[in-house]
Amino acid sequence: MRVTPSNLNLRGTTLIYSRIAGTGSYLPEKVVTNADLEKLVDTSDEWIASRTGIRERRMAAEGETTGDLAFYAATHALEAAGTKASELDLIVLGTTTPDIIFPSTACLLQHRLGANGCAAFDVNAACSGFMYALGIADQFIRTGQVKKALVVGAETLTRMIDWSDRSTCVLFGDGAGAVVLEASAEPGILTTKLHADGAYKHLLYNPVGVSAGFRDEPNHGVRVIMGGSEVFKVAVRTLDRIVGETLEAAGMQEKDVDWLIPHQANLRIIEATAKRLGLSMDRVIVTIDRHGNTSSGSVPLALDEAVRSGKVKRGQTLLLEAFGGGLTWSSALLKY
Ligand code: UT7
Repeated sequence: MRVTPSNLNLRGTTLIYSRIAGTGSYLPEKVVTNADLEKLVDTSDEWIASRTGIRERRMAAEGETTGDLAFYAATHALEAAGTKASELDLIVLGTTTPDIIFPSTACLLQHRLGANGCAAFDVNAACSGFMYALGIADQFIRTGQVKKALVVGAETLTRMIDWSDRSTCVLFGDGAGAVVLEASAEPGILTTKLHADGAYKHLLYNPVGVSAGFRDEPNHGVRVIMGGSEVFKVAVRTLDRIVGETLEAAGMQEKDVDWLIPHQANLRIIEATAKRLGLSMDRVIVTIDRHGNTSSGSVPLALDEAVRSGKVKRGQTLLLEAFGGGLTWSSALLKY
C-alpha cells in the first residue's frame, strides 16, 4: 500500500502538518500597459494580449527594492495570520532579483520585521522560487524544528530586462506575495514536488554575474534571455507531468481539486494545465492580465488575491504549480 498522510498510522505519534495561517501580497503603484510598451518596441497590444494574456504589469518605483515589496507582502500576511514577527522561527524568500548580493533579502527582511534571531535565507529557483521556499519551509515544520515560518516570493524583474528586446520586455512585472505557515495537527500542505533540469539552462537565463563577470554593455549585460517557444513546450509537458505526480503522491484525483493556482507566465500554458486537470477556467486563479509574469511573486500574489476576494475558502483543496529558469518546476497540493 502506498503511504499517504491519511493512511500513515504511527501509533502514539501525532503527524505534524504545515498549514497556511495567513496570506499577503504587494504590488508597486506604477502600472505599465501594453500601449506604453508599443512606444518602446515594435509590438502591439493585440500581439501581447493574444499570445500571453497580459494587458498590464506593475513596475517598482526608482529606489523601491525587492525587499520593500517583500516587507509589505509579509506585513499583510502576518496581520492576516495574527502572528507577531517575533514569533517566527524561519524566513525563506524566493527571488532572483535580491536587493544586494549579500546579505540575503530574507536577512534584510528579517531585521526590518523585527524577527531577529530566526533562520533566514533566500532561494534562487527563478519562477519556482516561492514554490521551492514553500517546500523547504514545509519540511522544517513537518520535522518539528519550526513552528511558524514566513514564506515569501518577491521580485523586481523589470530591473533585469533589456527594454529593447520585445521578446522578453513585454512579459515581466514586479510584485511580491507571502504566506505564514504554522504547525498544525490538521492538514495543511499534503505534498510538495520540486524538480530541476540544468540541461535546459540555455533556454532561460541571465548571462552575467559576480563569478562569471559583468560586461561592458548597457546595464552591465544584465538581461533575461529566453527561447520562448521552446520554454513554452517544456513548460506544458512538465506541468502536465507534475500535476499527475502531485495528485498521486497525495492519493487524490483531479476532481478533488477546488482551485488551480498556477504560475502566471502565459495564459495558454495555464489553460493547458487546467485542461489536463479537467478544470474549467472558472476554477483557475488568473492574474496574468493585470500582473504579467512576476516570477517568484506570481503564485503567492494569485493565492492572496483569491483568498481576499473570497474565492478560496477554508477547507478547500488547492493545487499550486510553477515553472521557470533552471529549468525548474514545482507544485504543492494543500488544504487551505
Ligand atoms: O516564467 C518563466 C517561464 N516562461 C515561460 O513559461 C514563457 C513561455 N513562452 C511563452 O510564453 C511564449 O513562447 C512567448 C509569449 C514568449 C512568445 O510567444 P510565441 O507564440 O511562442 O511566439 P514566438 O516566440 O514563436 O514568436 C512568434 C513571432 C516571431 O516573429 P516571426 O519570426 O514569426 O516573424 C517573433 O519575432 O512573434 C514575434 N514576436 C513579437 N511580435 C510582437 C516576439 N515578441 C513579440 C512582441 N510583439 N512582443
